[in-house]
Amino acid sequence: LTVQVGKPGAAVNKTMYGLFFEDINFAADGGLYPELVKNKSFEISPNLLGWRALQSGDNLEIYAVRTEQPVSASSPHYLRVAARPGTGDEAGIENEGFRGMGIRQGAEYTLSFWARRGPGSGARGLTASLTAGKTKTLAQAQVTGLTGQWQKYAVVLRATDTEAKAKLKLVLDGPGAVDLDAISLFPKDTYNNRPNGLRPDLVQLLKDLQPGFLRFPGGCIVEGRTLAERYQWKKTIGDVDGREPLINLWNMGIRPRATPDYYQSFGLGFFEYFQLAEDIGAEPLPVLNVGMSCQSNSAELAPITGTSSASAAPAKGPNADAPPSFGTDDPSLDVFIQDALDLLEFANGPASSPWGARRVAMGHPKPFNLKYIGVGNEQWGQQYLERYEPFAKAVKAKYPGIAIVSSAGPRPDGDLFDKASKRLGELKAEYIDEHYYALPEWFREHADRYDNYPRTGPKIFAGEYAANGQHPWDNALSEAAFMTGLERNADVVGMAAYAPLFAHVNAWQWTPDLIWFDNLRAFGTPSYYVQQLFSLNKGTRVLPVALPGQAKNGTDNLFASAVADEPAGEVVIKLINYSASPRPVSLDLAGAKKLGKTGRAQTLASADLQAQNSLDEPRKVVPQASTFSLSGSKVSYTLAPYSFTVLRVKGT
Ligand code: AHR
Repeated sequence: LTVQVGKPGAAVNKTMYGLFFEDINFAADGGLYPELVKNKSFEISPNLLGWRALQSGDNLEIYAVRTEQPVSASSPHYLRVAARPGTGDEAGIENEGFRGMGIRQGAEYTLSFWARRGPGSGARGLTASLTAGKTKTLAQAQVTGLTGQWQKYAVVLRATDTEAKAKLKLVLDGPGAVDLDAISLFPKDTYNNRPNGLRPDLVQLLKDLQPGFLRFPGGCIVEGRTLAERYQWKKTIGDVDGREPLINLWNMGIRPRATPDYYQSFGLGFFEYFQLAEDIGAEPLPVLNVGMSCQSNSAELAPITGTSSASAAPAKGPNADAPPSFGTDDPSLDVFIQDALDLLEFANGPASSPWGARRVAMGHPKPFNLKYIGVGNEQWGQQYLERYEPFAKAVKAKYPGIAIVSSAGPRPDGDLFDKASKRLGELKAEYIDEHYYALPEWFREHADRYDNYPRTGPKIFAGEYAANGQHPWDNALSEAAFMTGLERNADVVGMAAYAPLFAHVNAWQWTPDLIWFDNLRAFGTPSYYVQQLFSLNKGTRVLPVALPGQAKNGTDNLFASAVADEPAGEVVIKLINYSASPRPVSLDLAGAKKLGKTGRAQTLASADLQAQNSLDEPRKVVPQASTFSLSGSKVSYTLAPYSFTVLRVKGT
């Protein structure tokens, strides 16, 4: 192979490799967002989802979900627990968590809740316990001093043991009724010690990818099954206890493993997404609903005409934390456009602007410096364009510097140059969001997908992709082969992200996924390490690579790409051997200056295409480091069977 080190090509975008986050597979509640209580505010339907009555077994009928004089108007339901004297049972409730609660020995958990004594109640307090199985108590604390008025109480529970499936039990200390709401059990240990922060091991796995961007909050959940169930970012900011939950689209039975108890609490909301992006050094990339429900192209469309009922000024004064009112459940396109403009103000506006003030009030005086927004997800054709055009015009008129990621349909083999894409070009969309979920062979066969893509017009945002064959290492290696094509075409491919990102081992709807976790542990799949090797070795400028005899990339199952890492003064070569035999290769680093005598190799390999990492064996397929020698500008290297190798050499 010849690497033209002396003829550097296009710059590689700093944001080239990033993350796609969607609340699917328990990625948010039960995953990244570490609240341990499921349905903490009794707002989900059925209102006692996740809860069990201690008195009289499972009979929750003796407990009533009420709405009179609630703590919060936006979260009106609360639970009245009424102890019945003489039953001999404990009067109280138990929460099951998200497939249990992950509790660590020595760690501290803040239990907080709102409570008030019922009329004439003898119960003045309660005992809170973390339990494991029928008999084990991991932590216990008393809360006393309940009054007839709503008050917030908090106590810290310190665990004496580790348990992946613990439960929280609250028992009244006397006869009578107590009203309870917003019952939260939150670990003190969060990433960067943030209040309402995120699960540290999962954030660390994200950070270790050095992602260029974070796309959020999805995926199909942006749109919702119906427009009424769409993601509304304004409902996800402000006081956590006042955020109104919503059924999760992935609750539905479209996948074999639908999880009927799946909802979005929005504890991880837009403020927290922006903060996460900042914490992991990624550009935030929110995707907004364009006025269409999930993959809809004829039903559930927001009418284009209509007056703007959408200028939802944020609440001021004592109700500043209440979600603002923002239109009806049957909104016109204006509402969606206004939401986008308000989001840009929330992210970047000064403290003196209404939405900028909301950001400042949440503890982030500096702007988030938002540069990109996505408009629609997996939508296409005339109905999309009719909505996209006024949407994009309004955004550009007020915020000309914002780059817009426009949508393309879910069509791995779709025509790149179809009418919609052409029109998006005419409308000067900066990026087109292409998605591909396909078999591994599709990825290997399409490593040239962008070789002939027009060099003018919108760039490509490969916003979701994954090889979805049966064998994890086959999938990962095929993705690596495809990614050499992204890298070779870095002049038109500006951003790319694997999807979906997370999956809970006991609560998933979609495979494959990049990172798996249970309530205590997590691991990256082989695809995770492919992403990491590309991201950490993305370099700054593409170097042309020629295969022997000028063969096409992928000929004889050999794939290659190369970049210069200018700040490091290094040449970086990526090689994929998709064959069962070792493959000797000779490399000529043509035109290179100041070459080192030795180089560093990182190899991700397994002769077994079925190889996978797991919670018990998280490092079965991970990169292995080694060194190699150069002879002048030449390198002789033997690629392992079924391997992805990154070679780094000093040189310019
Ligand atoms: O990543 C899972 C889903 O795949 C996304 O929600 C959607 O955009 C795509 O169809």
